[in-house]
Amino acid sequence: MKILEIEGNIPLTGTIRIGGAKNSAVALIPACILSDNKTTLTNVPDITDIEVLSETLEYLNVSVTRASGSIIIDPKQMVNKTIPDELSNRLRASYYFMASLLAKYKKVSMYFPGGCKIGSRPIDQTLKVFRALGATIEEENCLFNIHADELIGSEITLDMPSVGATVNTLIVASLAKGETILHNAAREPEIVDLATMLNKMGAKITGAGNSTIKIVGQEKLDGCFHDVMPDRIEAGTYIILGALVGNYLRIENIIPEHIQALLDKMQDIGCDLEINQDSVVVNANDNLMATDIETQGYPGFPTDLQQPFVTLLIGCRGKSTVMENIYENRFMNIPYLNKMGANISVKERCATILGANKLHGEEVEATDLRAAASLLLAALKAQGKTTILNAGYLLRGYEEIIEKLSNVGAKIELKEI
Ligand code: EPU
Repeated sequence: MKILEIEGNIPLTGTIRIGGAKNSAVALIPACILSDNKTTLTNVPDITDIEVLSETLEYLNVSVTRASGSIIIDPKQMVNKTIPDELSNRLRASYYFMASLLAKYKKVSMYFPGGCKIGSRPIDQTLKVFRALGATIEEENCLFNIHADELIGSEITLDMPSVGATVNTLIVASLAKGETILHNAAREPEIVDLATMLNKMGAKITGAGNSTIKIVGQEKLDGCFHDVMPDRIEAGTYIILGALVGNYLRIENIIPEHIQALLDKMQDIGCDLEINQDSVVVNANDNLMATDIETQGYPGFPTDLQQPFVTLLIGCRGKSTVMENIYENRFMNIPYLNKMGANISVKERCATILGANKLHGEEVEATDLRAAASLLLAALKAQGKTTILNAGYLLRGYEEIIEKLSNVGAKIELKEI
């Protein structure tokens, strides 16, 4: 097991550069195989989720070449095989291969996807899209066998603006016959990034970033070059860190508009932020005021920043509430934050934080990626030493996190026990 040892309460100064977006890259990579030609992605984050997708590509006989931030994907020799449970269950994004293999071969066989255990996370919306386009789906013991004689565009309304179902629709409809109109689509920037890449490959997608997206299916797609957009969740996490222990901490290579909901909230509670075109400079401030947040799809407050933001609220004066509307199980960090000195109670999907409390070092355990980020921020703020067990979760979504934090002055060590 990987553990992190952190010495807290050290002011952090310097620059942290944000890498490519995990949730964008994990959709772009499976989409690359729609073509028979080579695609080069740059600004690909060096995280374990990307390693798992690369392994999946190699399992499908796709050539994968990685070099300093880029990945070259060449599907010329690709074969369509059942994706086994040990590859599919390691991350949620594995189910983007359901769409790309179905689109390319009209047939796919794979197990239920994995991902952090933050809620039930069904895939019914994706299956609804596949059926609407003409696919037949059989499921036995979590193995999905999906095939279609022909995939034909359709008009579909999602029950909720699911990111995963929107990604899968863009991928599968890009090679279907005719036009697909998707209503109640997710509007996340990662969807726009995917549509941009698919259009470079020859797809005809309009409206990405809005609730209605139109996809005109093509017979073939080509390879392309694409630069992955910056990771808004990594950016948000470090900006929150700056509000906890920053001493002129600069977070660069960001698109501030992508984290507007976070920046607005931070300014409301009194954070000291200097927002520039592609960077934010942040200083810690011990006079922050409590607030209420509610997670929503983009452009609302992102669920992926809810847990890190709770850590910031611990030090804010007054009573804050956090309503988690997207996932039913995204408060697993709370017992550990309380162990470190916070005063937080949870009732169903609402957490109430009574501030302003001081944190002290403890042994805590990460239960999912963003819970790990929340505990890491708490550890960097706390007095004394914290040990985070199961720290491997962090490496799924934060590239070079030890180096990035050490470079700005943090005392942090990753160990294997
Ligand atoms: N949902 C359904 N049926 C579906 C799909 C979703 O009921 O078929 C429900 C989910 O259970 C959830 C809600 O709809 O309650 C939203 O799920 P969505 O499909 O939007 O999320 P996702 O595609 O599984 C992606 C990110 C998550 C991020 C969410 C919301 C990836 C690989 N994952 O998940 O990222 O929290 O969108 O923005 O893109 C993370 O990075 O830590 C992470 C969990």
